[in-house]
Amino acid sequence: MFRTAATRTASRFVCNSRVVTAKRTFALATRAATINAVRPAAKQFVKPLVATRGLKQINFGGTVETVYERADWPREKLLDYFKNDTFALIGYGSQGYGQGLNLRDNGLNVIVGVRKNGSSWKAAIEDGWVPGENLFDVSEAVQKGNVIMNLLSDAAQSETWPTIKPLLTEGKTLYFSHGFSPVFYDLTHVEPPSNIDTILVAPKGSGRTVRSLFKEGRGINSSYAVWKDVTGKADEKALAMSVAIGSGYVYQTTFEKEVNSDLYGERGCLMGGVHGMFLAQYEVLRENGHSPSEAFNETVEEATQSLYPLIGSLGMDYMYDACSTTARRGALDWYPIFKDALKPVFQDLYESVKNGSETKRSLEFNSQPDYRAKLESELETIRNMEIWKVGKEVRRLRPENQ
Ligand SMILES: NC(=O)c1ccc[n+]([C@@H]2O[C@H](COP(=O)([O-])OP(=O)(O)OC[C@H]3O[C@@H](n4cnc5c(N)ncnc54)[C@H](OP(=O)(O)O)[C@@H]3O)[C@@H](O)[C@H]2O)c1
Repeated sequence: MFRTAATRTASRFVCNSRVVTAKRTFALATRAATINAVRPAAKQFVKPLVATRGLKQINFGGTVETVYERADWPREKLLDYFKNDTFALIGYGSQGYGQGLNLRDNGLNVIVGVRKNGSSWKAAIEDGWVPGENLFDVSEAVQKGNVIMNLLSDAAQSETWPTIKPLLTEGKTLYFSHGFSPVFYDLTHVEPPSNIDTILVAPKGSGRTVRSLFKEGRGINSSYAVWKDVTGKADEKALAMSVAIGSGYVYQTTFEKEVNSDLYGERGCLMGGVHGMFLAQYEVLRENGHSPSEAFNETVEEATQSLYPLIGSLGMDYMYDACSTTARRGALDWYPIFKDALKPVFQDLYESVKNGSETKRSLEFNSQPDYRAKLESELETIRNMEIWKVGKEVRRLRPENQ
């Protein structure tokens, strides 16, 4: 068992986080000096890393990247920059909800376009969008707006493209939150017109999180990209939109890199991979006579409640450091074995993403009229797995849930 000795960990947490903060401040200053010394030609472009301005050059483990923060786009500047624009937000699912409400709360001119009387239409009305005023059907909204935010589900983007494309007239901007449709256009048939700016802002989280972080005064991290720059202002517009929809900091990418990393990540460590690993570990424990609660606690509960939050807040090295020497020795011996066993699976997965197989599968499945019912039936299977039923009971036992 990984022992984290709650009290010891708690006090070290506080003490170490101070050390980490101090170390980080020192490291940032040192990094800025190093970058300037090593790359004199780029010196004038490298901002001091302790600066309060939005744009920063950050050394990510040896690779310097540009990261933008919202400091460069205060609300007044956004209001001025977009004063003549109407955002037509097409689709009101997870992202439509989060991005739309954040844009509206930022004081920008937003209208919503969804199919009439669908579940999104009703949800939009509940959130205060008014039919005929700022809520329309899809075609009407695309006609009225000049920044067209295509936030339909990826399968629906493909399905509705023949209707939407002719309405994307010169002077408009096309916006996506995923590179899926344009990158795999041979499968999706979504080929943006060549005479308009086409940009992307992809929040790294669900629309619910885009909204909740914004309301807390924080901001999600997002990536942004430009597919087509007709006006010469597409890059700047994408950055401004990143902040307008509620991003706290923004990384530059390309449509291709965004879609490949996103599809890969969610099938891997973010969802599919971690689920598979939990199941494999749990099953072996059960086959060896461990009780359901013991198998669950050693597989999921301790991971999510004790160890993974440490990785999130202070890093993998910190998590190792917070555990017993017995745990550390074992994990240090076994992580390379897991890595070697799993790497070929990840290589296959990346190839399957890159060659379009994952896109094809997603489009075919999610275009079926009964796709929601089919997904629901698979989720029901997960709900009925012993491990996740045990989880429900274990969560109930947490003092805060009693
Ligand atoms: N969800 C995330 O975590 C996330 C994160 C980053 C980026 N993204 C990207 O953001 C975009 C939107 O994703 P989402 O998760 O917000 O989508 P979603 O929740 O699946 O939203 C679906 C929207 O599409 C509409 N729709 C579905 N089929 C339609 C059809 N045939 N005709 C017209 N409308 C249709 C739905 O309207 P009805 O209610 O009427 O069916 C709903 O408004 C996607 O490109 C996605 O990849 C998503």
